[in-house]
Amino acid sequence: MSKTLERWGSKRAFILAVTGAAVGLGNIWRFPYVAGENGGAAFLLIYVAFVILLGIPVMMAEILIGRAGRRGPMQALGALAAEAGASRHWRWLGLFGAFTVFCILSFYSVVSGWSIEFLVASINGNFRGASAAEIGAGFDAFLANPGLLIFNHTLFLLMTMVVVAAGVAKGLERLNNLLMPLLYGLLLLLAAYAATTSGFGTALSWLFLPSLEALTPSVVLHAMGHAFFTLAVGACALMAYGAYMPDEQSLPRAAVAVAVLDISVALLAGIAIFSVVFSQGMDPADGPGLMFVTLPIAFSELPWGSLWLSVFFLLLLLATWTSAINLAEPMVATLQGFGWRRSVSTAVVALSVWSIGLLSALSFSTLADFRPLLGRNVFELVSSIPPDIFLPLGGLLIAIFAAWVLPRSAAAAALGVGERGYLCWRNVVRWVSIPLTLMVLLSGLL
Ligand code: PFF
Repeated sequence: MSKTLERWGSKRAFILAVTGAAVGLGNIWRFPYVAGENGGAAFLLIYVAFVILLGIPVMMAEILIGRAGRRGPMQALGALAAEAGASRHWRWLGLFGAFTVFCILSFYSVVSGWSIEFLVASINGNFRGASAAEIGAGFDAFLANPGLLIFNHTLFLLMTMVVVAAGVAKGLERLNNLLMPLLYGLLLLLAAYAATTSGFGTALSWLFLPSLEALTPSVVLHAMGHAFFTLAVGACALMAYGAYMPDEQSLPRAAVAVAVLDISVALLAGIAIFSVVFSQGMDPADGPGLMFVTLPIAFSELPWGSLWLSVFFLLLLLATWTSAINLAEPMVATLQGFGWRRSVSTAVVALSVWSIGLLSALSFSTLADFRPLLGRNVFELVSSIPPDIFLPLGGLLIAIFAAWVLPRSAAAAALGVGERGYLCWRNVVRWVSIPLTLMVLLSGLL
């Protein structure tokens, strides 16, 4: 494989691509429901702390490796390890990342399929005049319909794989440029609407006033997993994007910009969703349906509600699409690294993700009682273990590789902020990010 890949068109394009990978279901769907199940403010506080202490430094580590290697993750890790005189087994970390994104994409595609269904329903005006109870019952009935879930899962995966087959760099730039400002604008509008609801005050104190008793090892583990998940860090997916990064760009600035945007999207979504939850007397720990039930209720009370709701689901779908493309990239890059053609690699990835995704799609109906591990069904397993365990573990190994194994000169050059900036980053990764991740992983698992 040639060492020089095509590059992103500009610095802005790179930031937008990473933002596209980061902002997705994690911010708007997963954050509210996981925060809801883990006590709200305590979870939020720890998750933001982890984004700063782990997410940003490890994101830099991951992109730096891609940029220094300028190849697919497995090949980049193998080649850099060889240059550093370290074991070539480091390349298996790329394969582990591919396995992680495989698990994640299998449920991600199913939930993105829900957005397709909700987009169509809101265009048809199905939520107009519906009460909260009717919207909730409609969602449950939808989940119990395997045919519909599988159809939407298939459609979403096809949408994703068409772009991936064509090669990522080109198509994404223009889409992201338009998408992020629109999505952000709509969330601002929603949060402004939330401020007029009766549940707004409760939502704010529930989100921002932590009670320390709520801080259990399991909450901390979930918060760490979510920090990695929402930033798309730990699966070598951003490593694959780093390979296309322009030479002259400062990596820390890009990482901080993405993290700030990512957190603020989650906060806006959280404020909107929990205001509805508390106005309607709903339970914050309502699980994966939280966003799909609350937002139709919120929009149905706004003038032109169906129109806004349709625009919202369209933007959400586009945001999850750019994340799914990023999820697919490391798998395709890995297979390509074995000498497979891009089209064949994409087809194989698509078919395998689709088949395993069926198990998640059926977890709400036919396979609801199939609980192979820890008493959880397949959807519950793949939507918790890969984000909470595999991503932090992958992130830990990525951090060790970048801060302990890579030679100083190569790492400093790829970070792009001079010697002092490099040492500062390396100290944070060596003495904060690595020990902290290890500690939380161990205490959460035990
Ligand atoms: N960050 C994405 C989201 O918040 O929806 C999900 C994700 C993308 C996780 C890519 C992991 C990944 F490698």
